[in-house]
Order: sequence, then C-alpha cells, then structure tokens
Amino acid sequence: MAFPESFLQELKMRNDITETVSSYVSLKRRGRNMVGLCPFHGEKTPSFNVYTENGSFYCFGCGVGGDVITFIMKIENLDYVDAVKLLAQRAGMEVPENSYDDSMNKLRSRIFEANREAARFYYSTLLSPKGASGLEYLHNRQLSDRTIRHFGLGFADDDWTSLCTHLRGKGFKDSEITAANLGVKRRNGNGIYDRFTNRVMFPIIDLRGNVIAFGGRIMTDEKPKYLNTSDTPVFKKSANLFSLNNAKNSGNRTLILCEGYMDVISVCQAGFTNAVATLGTALTVEQAVLMKRYADEVIICYDADEAGQKATARAIPILRNAGLLIRVLTVPRGKDPDEFIKSNGKDGPAAFRALIDKSANDVEYRLNKLKQQYNTETTDGKIAYLEEAAKVISGISSPLERDVYISKISNETGVEKSSFNQQFKNIFKRSNREAAKKQMNKIQADLSGRSDKINSDHYKKPRSSSAEEALVVFLINNPDLAPEISDGVKPEQFQNSLMKRYYEYMLGRIERGLDPLNNVTADFTNDEASKLYQLLSQSIPAASTKEAMREYINVINEESKKLTAENAASLSDAEIQAYLDEIRKNKQ
Ligand code: UTP
Ligand code: MN
Repeated sequence: MAFPESFLQELKMRNDITETVSSYVSLKRRGRNMVGLCPFHGEKTPSFNVYTENGSFYCFGCGVGGDVITFIMKIENLDYVDAVKLLAQRAGMEVPENSYDDSMNKLRSRIFEANREAARFYYSTLLSPKGASGLEYLHNRQLSDRTIRHFGLGFADDDWTSLCTHLRGKGFKDSEITAANLGVKRRNGNGIYDRFTNRVMFPIIDLRGNVIAFGGRIMTDEKPKYLNTSDTPVFKKSANLFSLNNAKNSGNRTLILCEGYMDVISVCQAGFTNAVATLGTALTVEQAVLMKRYADEVIICYDADEAGQKATARAIPILRNAGLLIRVLTVPRGKDPDEFIKSNGKDGPAAFRALIDKSANDVEYRLNKLKQQYNTETTDGKIAYLEEAAKVISGISSPLERDVYISKISNETGVEKSSFNQQFKNIFKRSNREAAKKQMNKIQADLSGRSDKINSDHYKKPRSSSAEEALVVFLINNPDLAPEISDGVKPEQFQNSLMKRYYEYMLGRIERGLDPLNNVTADFTNDEASKLYQLLSQSIPAASTKEAMREYINVINEESKKLTAENAASLSDAEIQAYLDEIRKNKQ
C-alpha cells in the first residue's frame, strides 16, 4: 500500500496535526506541545500530547501515538487507505489512482458487496415459501413486519448451497465467498457450502451502513443457539456492536446495552431505539471506547440470571474506565428484557420505561447487591456489609460522591456517620496505598520495558536497547548526521530487533533523500508506529547533543562485542578465540 512520497508529504502538510486533532479534542498549550484529554481512553487529566514540530501525537496514558493519518484511522475507525482518502478529500487533493497495491482493499469491498447481496437474499428467502418457518418463528416472537424490515432480518434455508449458488450467479468467486465467511470449504476440497443453514438471520451493520457480518438463530433447542460470522477482513467481533448503526441516530447520548440480538430488537420495537448488544462475547474495552463516542451514559440491561449478573459486574469497570456513566437496569423475575416486554403485553413499553427510570447507578447497584448478601438485621451482618460497602465507596474518585454514599449508608444502617467515616478512611487509605503501589509497579515495568510487548527486547537487553532507542531517535531528529552515525554503527550490531528494523529503515530513507518519518504509518504496524512515536515524544534535549550521540555509538559497539549465549552458537571457534583475546587485552 504505497502512496507516492510527495503525495503523502503534501497531504500531511495540508492537514496540520494540531488543527486536525483540535476538531475532535479540545487542546491547550503546554510548553512547546499541545495537550488534551485522550479520545482513545477515558481520563480526567490530560496526557494526550500533540507535537506540531514533527506532526505527531502520543498519549502517555494509553500508549497510542502516530501521525495525522494514524489519528484519523483511530478516531474515525478507518483503515489506512480510507484515512488517507478522507484527509485528501478534506484538503481538496486528488488521490493518485492505482498508486497503491489495493488487493486487500479490493477484497474488503468485495466482501461488503457479497454480504449486502447475502442480506438481500436472506430477506427475500424469508418472505418466500421457503422461508415460511422462519417468518412464523419471528412472528411467534412477536416481531412486526415493520421491525423485520427495519433490521433486515432474513432466513437461511436448509439446502446447504443456495446462498453459495446465488452469489456465484452474481459473479462472486468462491474465494470471496469464503473470505466473507458466507461459505465454507468442503473437507474433501471439492467446492464450498453455505455457512448458515436453517436459521433466522440477523445482519450486523457498521456505522457507515456496510453489512459486515451475520448472526443466525436456530429455531429449535439445538446448539449452538446462535451462530455468528467468524472474524473476516471486514469484521472483528470484539470491536463492533449490534445495532449501533441505529442507536447512534437515536438522538440522545444514552445507550442501552443488552446481551443479545433479540433483546435489542424487542427493546427497539418497544420504542427504545438506542439499544445495542455485544456479538456473542463479553464486553471489550474496544466496544466501551466505541460507545463513548456516541454516548455519555450506558444502561446495562443484561439478563437477570446469574450469568447476566456476572457479566454486569465485569462490564462496570470497563465502562467506567472508558469515561461512561453507568446505570444498571434490573429485569424482575429472572427474565431477559425481551421476555419482560412481551409478558407485559401492550403495556410492555411503559413497563420497560419504568424499569429504566428506576435503574440505579453502578454504585447503588453494587451496594444493593451487597445488602442482599448480608443480613443487616444482625450486628455481624451489618459489620460485614459496612466493610464491603466501604470497599465499593473507596473506588469512587470524587470526594463529593463518596460523601453522598457515606451519608446514605449511615442513614440506612443507623451507624454514626463519624464512626463509619473512620472505618471507611482506614480502608480507603489501604486501598489507595495499594492502588499507588500498583501504579508505581506499572510505571517501573513500563520504564524497564517489562510490560512492553512490542519492544520486548528492551527488557532482555536494557543497556544496548536504551542506546539503540536513543540513537534511532537522534538519527530521525538529525538526518544530516546520518553518514557519521552509519559509519559508527552498522545495523547488524543492533541487539534489539525492532530498533534494528527502524535503524535500517531510517538510514535507507535518509540516503534516498526522503523524510524519515513520512511513511512510518504504512510501513510498520500501528503498535510499532506508536512505539516509535513514544520514543520520539519522550526524548529530552540533553539526549540530542553530538556528545550524547557518540556515547550511544560507543555503548552499542561495546554491547555488540559482548558474547551472549545467543550469538555464541553462531560464532566459529576462531571468532570465539578472538573475542576472548580482546577481553584479556582490555583487562590489562
Ligand atoms: P442467550 O442465550 O441469553 O440468548 O444469549 P437470547 O439473547 O435470550 O436469545 P433468544 O431470546 O433465546 O433468542 C445471549 C447472546 O449471546 C450470544 C448471542 O449474541 C445471544 O444473543 N450467543 C448465545 C451466541 O453467540 N451463541 C450462542 O450459542 C448463544
Ligand atoms: Mn431471550
């Protein structure tokens, strides 16, 4: 995927990083940089930095960084090529035709087309005689024809080849059908067959209106109840939500988070169009961040059963960390939202509205749960409850909010506020200390690279890695010194594999007269690019003198001469002897 260098350079020049970011994030000047609240994770104090000088950004909170293209990819949820196209459009530039290898891009758009065709096919099958059992099933579940049409529900018949045959007739290749996970290869290698058979079908639609996947429900008690599209080049289960395309237009910044397809549809049919669901997995951080773009508040509306309550407990911290307010709706009598609405007949919508209005925030929900666990009529029960409640409250960061709950609990239990306060303070101190310790450990781990998956060599070889990282940064900031640097250190001498790749890459670009950073986003993975921008953003002025440069070169040379278990194996006897001689010579 290579756009011409000159095009990218102009694209970045015309889409100034600070201006671009400012249209999404409110930035303030701090020293030479601009800072703001990171749009990619929930935070209350700004750690998101924008560096106008080299056109990059980096968040010290979540470690995401890159150039203006990366920023657009992340914030608009686009792939590289689409992000470039969007920026070009904003700057009024023509995207050079056929200038990149767009085979992946072509496949993706073929998958979108195949999915759309499949959705049409499933829908028309549902309304045909072949789909009678499916339509009857949906009607039995009290879905109106309007709802069926609105969600584009469909039916996969039990013929095992009808969809594949239909798609072939429309010009789709077998490889495209299997890439979309609409068809599956036969074991014996002879052709393909339909992935979904004898199921009612729920298309999953992304925010731009593309059909990206399907869920299919069997109409009997067989397992699996729901079958979902596996991950494909256009679909990642963990990063999408069912019906977010509808919910984002609901006109308010609250989302109702349900467990499954049918709940969303039922809730929506009852008039609450802001419902979404995860796609057969537990809620992920990615999904929470996605919700935060369209909502400030999420009402968790999981099943009343134990699994649903466990899932609620897991979802709360994920949503909180994404900066979302939370309420928890409890469906009475062990039902799921769909069953609840139906069991109330024509009063279903009003009854559900009442549940929403009654739903408590996450702290109240957790306190209520605790109260059900302990018998607060007895002294022992009361003490146990207070202890647990203090733990919940110690997790709240706002002192005002904490105070509200402390008052409430002391009222409820008849325990003096002052004595509860004391107990609470002890626990709060303890848990604060624990949190501080954890934070400290994390910072130390980060500094030592222990938690650094992308740059894992850093921890294995800290001394050489630090020098190599510093030299790569120095080289990028001082391309004019490239000849001197490359005379001093050859890429082979690098011990850190990622730094070695950067070093070779940057030297190559500088030699060809190119800006070292211009194409990083396309030539490295997102995580690798983030790492590089992290290193760039952490460098300090003292590290960029020529003296410092010589020091890095020395350290790298020294370290590369050290015999390690790894490289000893590849050395000849003579080389080992030469190495030992050198050590002896140095010792004298
Ligand atoms: P549930 O088993 O609670 O089903 O699964 P449900 O939503 O109440 O469905 P109905 O009312 O019986 O039709 C909740 C969600 O978990 C995922 C689906 O997304 C489902 O909506 N799931 C469940 C699967 O992906 N596969 C399964 O086999 C079961
Ligand atoms: Mn259900």
